[in-house]
Amino acid sequence: MSQRELSPQDRAKRAAGAAAIDLYVEPGMKLGLGSGTTSHWMVRTLGERVRDGLDVVGVPTSTGTAALAREVGVPLADLNDVGELDLTFDGADEIDRQLRMIKGGGACLLWEKIVAAASRRMIALVDDQKVVETLGAFPLPLEVLRFGWKSTERLIGRCLVEQGLAGRRITLRGGEADPLLTDSGNVIIDCHLGAIPDPDALEIALNRIPGVIENGLFCSMAAAMVVGYPDGTAKETGPA
Ligand code: 5RP
Repeated sequence: MSQRELSPQDRAKRAAGAAAIDLYVEPGMKLGLGSGTTSHWMVRTLGERVRDGLDVVGVPTSTGTAALAREVGVPLADLNDVGELDLTFDGADEIDRQLRMIKGGGACLLWEKIVAAASRRMIALVDDQKVVETLGAFPLPLEVLRFGWKSTERLIGRCLVEQGLAGRRITLRGGEADPLLTDSGNVIIDCHLGAIPDPDALEIALNRIPGVIENGLFCSMAAAMVVGYPDGTAKETGPA
């Protein structure tokens, strides 16, 4: 795809994804491969380096990323077979200055959190529009077991009230007639919160609800972010 065909945001995503490889990857590394369009730019660049002789192995965070990695020639491994990963690169829907994130816009948050937690370091790859002062404008996704999901949804509503987030809209992604199913066969419930005053507390509280398998708040995972810009540059930033 030529530079001219990409939107400014996609040029920024590509810049972040490509820069990450040159900034962090060393021969022999075991890498977690994130999901979403920004991560997919990273996977494409990694494929180019592998074709040039770089020796790495990747663990994908979704079936979509696994398919792309295979297409571009990145060798893959099962997380169960490789032990701790050196590094995971993954995108975000929002990230604040403390590197807390909302993830799961692409419905891959469960595998993404498992892979990030299995890594010594996680690096967030974002375009400049994803960096926010306060998390919450992007709906917070929760991966929920299909069994009894309406009961789980009620408990999510109660938890939000306890967290000072009363009256917020909660929706089943895809709708009841045709709900979106994740790679693990679960549903996604999106919480339209507007702003999240205490993301650390909310991440823990939501995961205490039976039926909630994981939520899209990643509060203590990223060690740094690589921010891409539409002019094709990218900058690495640590926590504020
Ligand atoms: C998928 C994710 C993605 O990383 C997130 O949605 C960002 O995607 P993109 O890079 O396409 O903007 O969490 O579950």
